[in-house]
Amino acid sequence: MILILLGPPGAGKGTQAQRIVDTRGIPQLSTGDMLREAISSGSPLGKKVQNIMDRGDLVSDEVIEQIITARIKERDCDGGFILDGAVRTVGQAKMIDRVLKKQKRALDLVIELVVDEEELVNRLNRRIEETRAAGKPVRADDNEETFRKRQAVYREQTAPLIPYYEKQGKLRKVDGMGTVAEVASAIDAILDEIAAE
Ligand code: AP5
Repeated sequence: MILILLGPPGAGKGTQAQRIVDTRGIPQLSTGDMLREAISSGSPLGKKVQNIMDRGDLVSDEVIEQIITARIKERDCDGGFILDGAVRTVGQAKMIDRVLKKQKRALDLVIELVVDEEELVNRLNRRIEETRAAGKPVRADDNEETFRKRQAVYREQTAPLIPYYEKQGKLRKVDGMGTVAEVASAIDAILDEIAAE
């Protein structure tokens, strides 16, 4: 199964992707994690994207194409994968369709996690507190000002993917306001339904 998890910053994409990795055995492709790894390693790619990510903007479609096309050619993606926050513009969506078509594959499903903005800010503040309590560094883009900017970028550049995938008949909405377990069980019901088709 090739699945996209779509939703605003803090909606729970990473949390739910990790659970799907554990239960369905397909890898999670998080461009956010890949870019943060590039920054920590001090690579040329990391240097190129650091300021863009720190201010809450999107990195270019060209950079995403480069990292995603290389990653999905790896063997562990043969049985499917989860694109976690990895498709954020209509240009990227078209690129994914093109790359998959070349491999004679296609996207199966897009799950949109729907969460109110104030709840997203509460989750951000909890994540900051938990990270500090664990003695770990807080993400450079995890502060309320940049987080609001990330929400605005989502509304302007990523939300147009919702009608794009609706038109393809691939979009399913999930109420992301429940507990992690409640959201997981709504996603599971959809994944079971698609797998049975
Ligand atoms: P990325 O790392 O993808 O961040 P994001 O989309 O902003 O999402 P988050 O990781 O903040 O949230 P999430 O939805 O994964 O939620 P999580 O599970 O962590 O991207 C960062 C940056 O990289 C972008 O701004 C951009 O610059 C760049 N980038 C990445 N991909 C790109 C692309 N394709 N194109 C261009 N640029 C790109 O949960 C959040 C918190 O809430 C956690 O603490 C969690 O424990 C908690 N939580 C989760 N679910 C629940 C629940 N149901 N109830 C209560 N708490 C919950």
